[in-house]
Amino acid sequence: MSGSLSHLTRRFFDVLTSKPLSISERATVASWLAPELAEVFFEQMDADQRHGYHAALSVISDGHDDGEVITAALMHDVGKRHAHLGVIGRSVASVMIVLGLPLTERMVLYRDHGRNGARELVELQAPSLAIEYALHHQGERPQTIESNLWKTLVAADQAPKAGTRADF
Ligand SMILES: [Fe+2]
Repeated sequence: MSGSLSHLTRRFFDVLTSKPLSISERATVASWLAPELAEVFFEQMDADQRHGYHAALSVISDGHDDGEVITAALMHDVGKRHAHLGVIGRSVASVMIVLGLPLTERMVLYRDHGRNGARELVELQAPSLAIEYALHHQGERPQTIESNLWKTLVAADQAPKAGTRADF
């Protein structure tokens, strides 16, 4: 998990300025995902949908056009939506997490979004790569994900403008 204040500031503005996906972008995402996964993807806040969409474009531009990799990129942050935190709440939570301060229930949900999202993806019978990447994307590469594929997915999880790790 990335925690520098400059990073948090960049991610704050990235989330703040994200536009909703257009109709054609939504159709593209829907064409990439199984219907039950698409339903969950579109429950995310606009900024997270755009972040997932950018991550998918990034893995595709890196030469990974198979559905499992695209699904992993799209779905890795779906656990965040359970925290119901907006941009300010996320920023406060991030600082509290970095400083090791006591967290509210929603902040804990936000902190644990990888594990929560992975559990949900298991129930939705998502590809194993999507489950594994959601579970581990805030930390170290698991042995179940090959090194170059991990690098591709981590690179895709960058804020597009600032080039910084987007999971704060
Ligand atoms: Fe992310």
